[in-house]
Amino acid sequence: MSSNHASLMDGVYKSQRHIYDFTRKYYLLGRDQLIFDLKPDYGQTILEVGCGTGRNLIQAARLYPWAKFYGFDISEEMLITARKNIEKARLSDRIILVQGDASNFSCQDLFGIEKMDRVFYSYTLSMIPPWQDAIEQGLKALEKEGSLHIIDFGQQEDLPSFFKTILKQWLKAFHVVPRADLAIKTAEQAEKAGRRHSFKPLYKGYSWGLKAW
Ligand SMILES: C[S@@+](CC[C@H](N)C(=O)[O-])C[C@H]1O[C@@H](n2cnc3c(N)ncnc32)[C@H](O)[C@@H]1O
Repeated sequence: MSSNHASLMDGVYKSQRHIYDFTRKYYLLGRDQLIFDLKPDYGQTILEVGCGTGRNLIQAARLYPWAKFYGFDISEEMLITARKNIEKARLSDRIILVQGDASNFSCQDLFGIEKMDRVFYSYTLSMIPPWQDAIEQGLKALEKEGSLHIIDFGQQEDLPSFFKTILKQWLKAFHVVPRADLAIKTAEQAEKAGRRHSFKPLYKGYSWGLKAW
């Protein structure tokens, strides 16, 4: 899927990337909580899969000045903005960015590092058609004592049904599909990889937070 999906994402973000951080702060909820939960030790490595404009990596690099950060995205358009933002934040020496596809990646090929201590996905799995492959790859990329973190749209299970309908239609316009079986499939994959897992609905199910370790 790589090149078609890359063109699709470039199309979505070519103009959106200029207003992305300002607009998304109002509805990509729970991202800062995920960053707060990463809690890396000294010298540990953190990877964001589908890093977009670099917003999360910048926040995390400021919060954890003792850790090393890596990110990749399938969209070169997004990466243009991410590189600019990271340079502006004077973090280019601590955040390494490359282009890559979450459904088929190897940290060794992308960064020359076999495993990461933390791998996280922030509102990315809802934009990746083979999202289960992306989770499987992330689990493979994890150090034995590492953890994988996910924040994404939930099923709005405790919100009024009209809100749910409007949100789903609106997200569809951006090729975003909240994954109804995200919790079940993540749990299955985590268990297959011999890891524990947790699931936490946030904001009445607007977002879901998941972790495997
Ligand atoms: C909604 S944005 C989220 C960006 C960032 N994680 C955040 O929280 O602000 C989704 C990102 O996933 C990227 N993406 C979509 N499919 C991807 C794939 N197969 N591999 C890597 N990145 C992908 C998009 O290009 C986009 O930058």
